[in-house]
Amino acid sequence: MMKGVPYLVTVALLALASTLAFADDPSPLQDFCVAINKTEVFVNGKFCKDPKLTTANDFFFSGLDKPGNTENKLGFNVNLVNVDKILGLNTLGISLARLDFAPYGLNPPHTHPRATEILVVLEGTLYVGFVTSNTDNRLFTKILNKGDVFVFPVGLIHFQFNVGHTNAVAFSGLSSQNPGLITIADAVFGANPPINPDVLAKAFQLDKTVVNYLEKIF
Ligand SMILES: *[C@@H]1O[C@H](CO)[C@@H](O)[C@H](O)[C@H]1NC(C)=O
Repeated sequence: MMKGVPYLVTVALLALASTLAFADDPSPLQDFCVAINKTEVFVNGKFCKDPKLTTANDFFFSGLDKPGNTENKLGFNVNLVNVDKILGLNTLGISLARLDFAPYGLNPPHTHPRATEILVVLEGTLYVGFVTSNTDNRLFTKILNKGDVFVFPVGLIHFQFNVGHTNAVAFSGLSSQNPGLITIADAVFGANPPINPDVLAKAFQLDKTVVNYLEKIF
């Protein structure tokens, strides 16, 4: 009779532990697993190159000193250095991005399904924020200046807006070799093929002509 309770607690703790273990990228089971760049076969992650053939260049990337081209309708550019750019990142659960903003440039509301993001501002002034899940859809925002750091928790919708009249530059660390990116407007109004306008009209409480317009411009 008494044995039942500790047993249940153990099972619950094990279940929790396994949930936590799978919340991020799988842990490496060896020093490294440098990815093979070209393969027709896919696993959860990438195949490892023969460690004997691995070189320092498998852990190297150059060029983040260069500004990205922000001449687009958002005035924004991101250069993400993930496992596709540094093959040695495979299984290590981390990546890096350079973000460039023209004056009033915007990184629009988006989420990274697999990564928490930690951002540091190097130049300029950013208005940043994220929204919690539907429990309360609470908005957390901050104005960031040079040297300021902000965290965007995994999966939550967030944005960064250059509110200064000069360029802004930021770098982000992301807790996945392949964080993923879902830009809300693109995914919803720019789906391919398009989502039935009746669905979007009802979901967003919009007139169908507005939905048709949005589906055209995204
Ligand atoms: C991997 O392959 C892709 C496509 O062929 C290429 O664009 C990319 O630069 C390669 N990455 C590395 C690190 O060699």
